[in-house]
Amino acid sequence: MTARRDNAGEASPGTVNVLAALLEARTGQQIAANRTWRIDTALRPIALERGLPNVDALVTRLLDGSDAALADRVIDAMLNQETSFFRDAGVIEAAANAIAALDAPAPRIWCAGCSTGQEPLSLAMEFVERGGVVPEIVATDVSKAAIARARVGRFTQFEVQRGLPIRRLIRWFEQRDNDWIVRPDLLQRIAWRRQNLVADLPPPGRFDAIFCRNVLFYLAPGLRAQVLDAIAQALRPNGVLILGAGETVIGQSDAFVPSRRFRGLYEIAPADPNVVYKAG
Ligand SMILES: C[S@@+](CC[C@H](N)C(=O)[O-])C[C@H]1O[C@@H](n2cnc3c(N)ncnc32)[C@H](O)[C@@H]1O
Repeated sequence: MTARRDNAGEASPGTVNVLAALLEARTGQQIAANRTWRIDTALRPIALERGLPNVDALVTRLLDGSDAALADRVIDAMLNQETSFFRDAGVIEAAANAIAALDAPAPRIWCAGCSTGQEPLSLAMEFVERGGVVPEIVATDVSKAAIARARVGRFTQFEVQRGLPIRRLIRWFEQRDNDWIVRPDLLQRIAWRRQNLVADLPPPGRFDAIFCRNVLFYLAPGLRAQVLDAIAQALRPNGVLILGAGETVIGQSDAFVPSRRFRGLYEIAPADPNVVYKAG
C-alpha cells in the first residue's frame, strides 16, 4: 500500500531525519526506528500553533533560523518525559534506606533527568516522613519545559493517580481546580536546574546518591559510557548510583560495579583491577 502524503500529511522521511539528528546532537537521545511516528504526533501541535500546515513546514522554519525559541520547543516535545510518583514499586524506599545507611552528616542527592519532578518529590516525601536528616536534593533535566513545570509543582489528576497513595496526596498536595499543587515546603526542598548530561558539567559538589533512571536507555553506547564517567566523578567515593528498572552498568561502563552493600544499586568500581565483582 502506498501512503498518501498531502499538505497536512505525515512528516516526510527527510524531515524525520533532520529532527532525529537535531535531537541527538542536542541531547544524545536516539529515536528508535519503530518510534519515529511519535515525531509527527509530538510536533504537529507546534506547527499548527505557528500557523504552519505540517511538520515539514515546521522544519523549514526551524532551519531558516527566524524563530530562536523554536529549537528548544521542538526538542522538548520530542523527548520522552515519561515519569510517575514512586515509579517502580519499592525503589524510592530501598534507595532511601541505602542513603540513610551511608550515614553522611549532610547527605546530598542528584536526580539527573528528573523530568517534571515526580522522582525528586517522591524522595523528598519519603525522607521528610521518615524524620531525621533530609538530604539536599538537586534535580536537573535538559528540558526547559519539564524543569519549568517541576518548579511550579502542579500536577493533573491523572499524574497524581499514578503511584501516589491517597494518604500522601492529602498530606502533600492542595487541590486547585482540577489539578493538585505540591505544598511549597516540599517543593522548596528541591533545587531545580536545567542541565544537559551530554554537554554540561554536573551540578557543583559531590553527591552521596545519584539517580539517573530511564535517561541513558536511548543514548548511543559511547555517550552512555561518557555520562556514567561524569556521574562517577560527581559521586562521593562511597556513594550509590540508582538506574532505571531495565538498566545496568554491566557492559556499559568500567566506572561502576553492582553494589555489594545495596542490592540493585551501583557503586564506583574499585581501583584494584584484580578484584572481581559478581552482579547480585
Ligand atoms: C523517561 S524520563 C525519566 C524521568 C525520571 N528519571 C523517571 O525515571 O521517572 C527521561 C528524562 O531524561 C531527560 N533527558 C534526556 N536526555 C537528557 C540529557 N542529555 N540531559 C539531561 N536530561 C536528559 C528527558 O528530558 C526526560 O525528562
